[in-house]
Amino acid sequence: MPLRKDFLWGGATAANQCEGAFDEGGRGLANVDVIPHGPERWAVVSGNRRMFDFEDGYYYPAKQAIDFYHHYKEDIQLFAEMGFKTYRMSIAWSRIYPQGDEEQPNEEGLRFYEDVFKECRKAGIEPLVTITHFDCPMHLITAYGGWRNRKLVEFYKRLVTTLFTRYKGLVHYWLTFNEINVLLHGSFMGAGICFEEGEDRFRTLYTAAHHELIASAWAVKIGHEIDPENKIGCMLAAGSYYPYSCKPEDVFAAQRENHKNYFFIDVQSRGTYPGYALKEFERNHFEIPFEEGDQALLKENTVDFISFSYYSSRVASGDPAQNDGEGNMMKGVKNPYLEASQWGWQIDPLGLRITMNDLYDRYQKPLFIVENGLGAVDIPDENGEIDDDYRIAYLRAHIQAMKEAVEQDGIELLGYTTWGPIDLVSAGTGEMSKRYGFIYVDRDDQGQGTLKRSKKKSFDWYKKVIASNGEDLD
Ligand code: BG6
Repeated sequence: MPLRKDFLWGGATAANQCEGAFDEGGRGLANVDVIPHGPERWAVVSGNRRMFDFEDGYYYPAKQAIDFYHHYKEDIQLFAEMGFKTYRMSIAWSRIYPQGDEEQPNEEGLRFYEDVFKECRKAGIEPLVTITHFDCPMHLITAYGGWRNRKLVEFYKRLVTTLFTRYKGLVHYWLTFNEINVLLHGSFMGAGICFEEGEDRFRTLYTAAHHELIASAWAVKIGHEIDPENKIGCMLAAGSYYPYSCKPEDVFAAQRENHKNYFFIDVQSRGTYPGYALKEFERNHFEIPFEEGDQALLKENTVDFISFSYYSSRVASGDPAQNDGEGNMMKGVKNPYLEASQWGWQIDPLGLRITMNDLYDRYQKPLFIVENGLGAVDIPDENGEIDDDYRIAYLRAHIQAMKEAVEQDGIELLGYTTWGPIDLVSAGTGEMSKRYGFIYVDRDDQGQGTLKRSKKKSFDWYKKVIASNGEDLD
């Protein structure tokens, strides 16, 4: 069976990586604003270096990003030209609740997204909205300590109630937390956590995880109550771990690494904490901070579908010394059978099919690929054209593998959105030069450039792919 007729082709972005206008429209400061470009970025992202405000001598790429805030009409028009059926984007929490804990939302922020959604609808594009994509109002971090504090669940509930009510009928597809498992690695980015000296990190991380999982279940509950048409999904930074060899220790290591990621989705999709996690908690003397009603809430409000990002597979070895590979927020072992991108991310189209099978076997719910793509340096030729055949090759091979998973393995798949259909700021490195787009944006790693948009070769290619519902990949 080919891809379904209503297959949701499109592209995905995140507010902090494209919007800019960090101090316009009544928006408050967010964690993502104060994460700098440069060698200290990872220390800040991971919660090991406290940077709660702008410091002299640093460049902060999210402040202006690609200025989607002022270019959204033009950008959505270009998406429409490619034939997008859906556009995945995220809400900046601090545009709606600038501090995070106000009683009343910021009307200007609400109006901005309403205009964006209407613009999408006018172009026949279904919005797919990530409620939080690595962002948290700074005030919730400085005054409450980020997601380690249960109070954030209340503020998040307020946020989602506002969104579901205001955008009822305009938006039907929602994701609760982008790459929820990333909070274990990029803790400041994923959960607004900056570690205190001597803090029990295990306790902090899994407490924050519990709070996000509870908040996610509330979003499912509230979203369904406000509009039964709403489809609400979880979102995993996916890419199955392979064992380095058939040595049982390597196979076991891969299983354990997979568990660390599945843990989140097990709770969001099955509604209970998995046994392997409970045992790990016991070994670490950690008790889940359950409050009355939590267990029933999780059980009764599981997600409608499983969305995930896929850039690469991963490799695990039983030998802890063997850890030499780069990847999407999580390091692994280098796979000697695969080529890698310019940033060392290994390219494995079959791994997408394997990952899809792993997730579908495990959850038996529809899948949605909401991120996939190649970060690469694009160099315009003398006429300003960009022949990004390398990007086309990457996407072609992955779409082919995705189709095989649907056609040959019987996987139910709702859609596919490439990451960064328009060039945007890299989450991992803060660079502009790590480009994913079909649309080139004239801006460099230091924030110089006209912000002018232009089409790359891949623009027409993707247009043809969508028009043929994935039949024409040439
Ligand atoms: C995912 C994120 O981790 O991968 C995106 O959801 C991110 O926000 C994307 O941009 C690609 O990673 P990077 O580091 O190349 O931007």
